[in-house]
Amino acid sequence: MQVIILPTPKDVALHAANKVVDVIIKKTSPVLGLATGSTPIALYNELVCRHQAGRLSFKSIRTFNLDEYIGIDEDHKQSYRSFMNRYLFDLVDIDLTNTHVPAAASLDPETLNHNAALYDAEISAVGGIDLQILGIGTNGHIGFNEPTSSFSSRTRIKTLSESTIAANKRFFMADEFQPYLAITMGIGTILESREILLMATGKEKASAVKDMIEGPLSSMCPASILQTHEKAIIVLDEEAASSLTLKEYYLWCETKRQQLHKGNCV
Ligand code: F6R
Repeated sequence: MQVIILPTPKDVALHAANKVVDVIIKKTSPVLGLATGSTPIALYNELVCRHQAGRLSFKSIRTFNLDEYIGIDEDHKQSYRSFMNRYLFDLVDIDLTNTHVPAAASLDPETLNHNAALYDAEISAVGGIDLQILGIGTNGHIGFNEPTSSFSSRTRIKTLSESTIAANKRFFMADEFQPYLAITMGIGTILESREILLMATGKEKASAVKDMIEGPLSSMCPASILQTHEKAIIVLDEEAASSLTLKEYYLWCETKRQQLHKGNCV
């Protein structure tokens, strides 16, 4: 794991935006894995700014989102399709037919299972994901792979944990139906991405971040499996990094990595 600790959430977003741009520049037809939630909003704002300044085009980009709620329509304000349209897709020159969010509008389990299996097949058909953006839940989930999810799981229906439902309550009105099921990319699916960049900001993520980076591999912290990925970059602000035992070492490693990048070994 490459652990990068930066002063503020804004720095985290800028670092992630630079990485996304690197991937876009290097590939003729880049495939991005995208996340929703509060954390990546600053990243999407930054990408939109660069697009509006004429520095970035999304015309050749294909995207696959991690997850979608079951039980609300695609055009519901809290659906992840609406979220992506609102914060990114409607604001840039992406071809909407190149954007994918798991199809979760049906209430028929067979159709949902079929859609989930199709999602993995669609990712494979485009040659896999070049860069997967992730956030982390306070319980260590990635996507909606809640604690005890299999490390080799594929895209599927998942029941949300009590803590995830509580954490996402803030987005729904008091009298509004809040979904407790979702289709999520599986952990096995996520691990097939060529590169992974996980962003975490804020004190409330510190404990999950510590378990992910310094804890044992355990399905009780699904994100801990990223320790086994060849190219996992974890970008944290000071608060999210505040419980790490080896924090000073990660900062030192990053200084050294930058020196090496400039061809300087001492
Ligand atoms: C969102 C997702 C989730 C979030 C996680 C953190 O597509 O898959 O894993 O990344 O719940 O959410 P925030 O950023 O709101 O704290």
